[in-house]
Amino acid sequence: MRLFTTVAGLRCYLHLRRSEQERAGQKLADANPVTVGLVPTMGALHRGHLSLIHRARQDNHLVVVSIFINPLQFGANEDFQTYPRTLEQDQQQCEQAGVDVVFAPTASELYGTVLSVNNALTQVLPPAAAIASLCGRFRPGHFEGVATVVTKLLNLVQPDRAYFGQKDAQQLAIVQRVVADLNVPVEIVSCPIVREMSGLALSSRNQYLTEEERSQATVLYRSLQQAEQLFRAGNLKSSDLLTAVQAELTTVPTVKPEYVELVDPVTLAPLEWVEESGLLAIAAHIGSTRLIDNVVLRNRQPILAIDGPAGVGKSTVVRQVAQTLGLLYLDTGAMYRAVTWLVMQSGVALDDQPAIAELVSQCQLELENQVKSLPSTPKVWVNGQDVTQAIRSAEVTAHVSTIAAQPAVSDR
Ligand code: PAJ
Repeated sequence: MRLFTTVAGLRCYLHLRRSEQERAGQKLADANPVTVGLVPTMGALHRGHLSLIHRARQDNHLVVVSIFINPLQFGANEDFQTYPRTLEQDQQQCEQAGVDVVFAPTASELYGTVLSVNNALTQVLPPAAAIASLCGRFRPGHFEGVATVVTKLLNLVQPDRAYFGQKDAQQLAIVQRVVADLNVPVEIVSCPIVREMSGLALSSRNQYLTEEERSQATVLYRSLQQAEQLFRAGNLKSSDLLTAVQAELTTVPTVKPEYVELVDPVTLAPLEWVEESGLLAIAAHIGSTRLIDNVVLRNRQPILAIDGPAGVGKSTVVRQVAQTLGLLYLDTGAMYRAVTWLVMQSGVALDDQPAIAELVSQCQLELENQVKSLPSTPKVWVNGQDVTQAIRSAEVTAHVSTIAAQPAVSDR
């Protein structure tokens, strides 16, 4: 494992690793380009961080963990000075988890001297609506600081994927939004919350808690679970769900809620009802420590996917499972066929990937299940034209695997 504290060292290392692979790729037809996963952290690593690192390790050739306590995201009265700094232990944990690079720059390395000159720095400003709720309301400037440092880290590492915890749900939604709005070429991977047996969500700030406070803090998740139960019993109304959380929180008077809110998990706008999904989130003070927690309430049917080699009967099984369980059936094979039909109709060469990417990004695809007779195939429209029969032709069958293998098609 390598530790870099400078931008120059990090960039040089990543450049060398990428070009080594490129040279190998020229010799070996099937050598894939290096994929890089980035896990941004502020250190004091715990099992929550490690779950992100393990996921990054599974998905990528190279894993970079950044450890940087970002002064830009701390308010004047917050814990920047006292935030736990445990670089040596963090490095050991990263080494054990198979991390390739730890990037731990100083503030002046990342921001130069501009930080001290009255924050004279280019910053990334998330949409006002995304910072008007939850923590954004109580931590002015926080998400500008997060969005700025994350954008810088993404630019420096240029990862294929970056990993963020659902624990900081507003941060995750804002990072997703920044990446979409600024066209940053990275996949943001969201990872579930890791909790202690008691239900307490792991956090670097749990170190500030006394034993007694740690046990009091378990009321956060308990209160979210109360609302979750109510929700599962069919109550989708925001005011009822919030009341359930607040009622449980009052059982531990030393826990002082800052907010309890139900918002849309993507836009972060307040909800009156949970139509599809809702983010139910809490921030509370326990002594001098501020903790956050959340659950996502989903009011939709599960998504089941079956993978496996071609021609083994996946579609037949999936159709029957969907019918038995009353779920919608999404025939991805028909979607690939429809795109293949479109490419052939348009006269675009089957290997002209950029032209195919343009076609796919602009096409309207509609599928309608006809599950009455099994095994059935869906009705399919491309740009309003019924292609249900056409996509089953021998020509489409002959070319569908070539088209489906193109990232511009499969990613969409
Ligand atoms: P930090 O608090 O160190 O968290 C780093 C990452 O670990 C975040 O994506 C966070 O959501 C995730 N994480 C923390 N506790 C977790 C838990 N119990 N379960 C799952 N994931 C968890 O978040 C930051 O640092 C900073 O704001 C940062 C993104 C690095 C920008 O400075």
